[in-house]
Amino acid sequence: MAARVDALYFFLVGVSVFFATLISLLIVIFAFRYRRRSEGDRPPEIVGDLRLEILWIVIPLGFTMVMFVWGAKLYVETYTPPADALEIHVVAKQWMWKAQHPEGRSEIDQLHVPLGRPIKLLLTSQDVIHDFFVPAFRVKIDVLPGRYTTVWFEASKAGVYHLFCAEYCGTQHSGMIGRIFVMSPNEYQSWLSAGDNVVSMPEAGARLFQIRGCVTCHLPNDSARGPSLVGSLGKQVRLQDGRIVVADENYIRESIVNPQAKVVAGYEPVMPTFKGLINEEGIMQIIAYVKSLEHEAQAKQ
Ligand code: CUA
Repeated sequence: MAARVDALYFFLVGVSVFFATLISLLIVIFAFRYRRRSEGDRPPEIVGDLRLEILWIVIPLGFTMVMFVWGAKLYVETYTPPADALEIHVVAKQWMWKAQHPEGRSEIDQLHVPLGRPIKLLLTSQDVIHDFFVPAFRVKIDVLPGRYTTVWFEASKAGVYHLFCAEYCGTQHSGMIGRIFVMSPNEYQSWLSAGDNVVSMPEAGARLFQIRGCVTCHLPNDSARGPSLVGSLGKQVRLQDGRIVVADENYIRESIVNPQAKVVAGYEPVMPTFKGLINEEGIMQIIAYVKSLEHEAQAKQ
């Protein structure tokens, strides 16, 4: 995306420089050309010119519309990850970045990614607002407590890149930096399997699902106490109050920490909150587990 972001940026700078120069030059030229030449000099009265008015409305309108459409298109593409993207979960806290890969390996202040593969990051914060910024990829996204944000990139060159926190988040904000390692897919695979006792995210989520007792109400099929979660991710659900919402990652997270907020139609608000009982990493693992249920459900069809 970097080259395309830069192209838009250079276009904006180019237009600004062109008009700033043109206007500055005209100011100087007009100051000399139309200066007052004698005490008795009286300038002629100027009446408006419709053609001129239209011209200086239409030209800037044209330029700004180009900027708007170009920028909006790029923005939407930057924040719409491709369906086949590799999903990596990131939790920010004062003052570090914690990442976990689907296969289970986790790391701090480092992020290893394979070359030439779209990477989707699902980010949240455990305390205050942080901001995930990788200048080389032109990727920058606020990382908020209590909510997931996503961004994606595809690294096109192997190497090590800077990661910064770009939102003032406390005393050691400036030290909240890390490195992104872009490696060949083979190297990435061997890096993934190099960690000890690695439990994949869905497996870790399945364990929490057992330990925390989620499994007693959320059975493979809808039960009296709770809806089945199989194939639920990304689907629309009807709530008690008639609203229809999409059961995305944010919805599942909210349902874990604040279950009464959006109760599915046909169920009693009996689910207790798990706020403080499951940390952000754990919630992400449960989401990965719910997502894996969907894949299993598809595989069976
Ligand atoms: Cu985190 Cu600044």
